[in-house]
Amino acid sequence: MDTLLETSPLSAGTLYRLLSGSICPRPIAWVATQDGQGNANLAPFSFFNVASIDPPILAFAPLLDGSAQPKDTLRNLEDVGECVVHVGTEGLIEALNTTSASLPPQEDEFALAGLEKAAMPGVSVPRIAAAPIAFGCQRVQVIRFGDQPLAGSLILVKVVSIHADESVWDGRHVHLDTLKPVGRLAGSDYVRVSDRFALDRPG
Ligand SMILES: Cc1cc2nc3c(=O)[nH]c(=O)nc-3n(C[C@H](O)[C@H](O)[C@H](O)COP(=O)(O)O)c2cc1C
Repeated sequence: MDTLLETSPLSAGTLYRLLSGSICPRPIAWVATQDGQGNANLAPFSFFNVASIDPPILAFAPLLDGSAQPKDTLRNLEDVGECVVHVGTEGLIEALNTTSASLPPQEDEFALAGLEKAAMPGVSVPRIAAAPIAFGCQRVQVIRFGDQPLAGSLILVKVVSIHADESVWDGRHVHLDTLKPVGRLAGSDYVRVSDRFALDRPG
């Protein structure tokens, strides 16, 4: 039997489970930012995608937390306006998970996860030295969808520089077998890209 649900009476928790359980797998942006004092921050966001190729624009969405407070990533992007977006991969998935812990703003998740930093051309924010792909980005726009817990903010950033390790980028193609990106499912579940199929496009 079909179930038709009006969204307005649904709790935020139900909406979260319906939306994040249906819209998956989702790619993971692993976002480095910095506050005005130069404290680095790192956190994963699976509400993430490419919004434009030319100009190159990425989009991701931190939610306000359960107390309706902005996450450090949102605050830093509103204040400083720069970030480095890495792609969540199998090789660094434990470290990625570690950086999803809620820490006080001045605590550095690079140190918490044992990750070395490297300079990223074009932005003042460091990249993760061990990450094979990194996009140096500048803020284009932040759209806040409300002030209540779990309200999202759509962050649009322009890619101004790219670090691509030669193990994953041959100058023309990205090699998924070495990049090994992971996707986020509902709850604590993830998916690998090891089961793929191809389809020719019509016309
Ligand atoms: C794989 C993964 C994906 C996540 N995706 C999101 C997301 O899209 N939006 C969000 O608000 N939180 C997401 N989180 C939770 C944040 O990473 C977490 O709240 C983090 O502490 C935010 O850090 P910050 O305060 O340093 O910005 C995700 C967590 C994990 C492990």
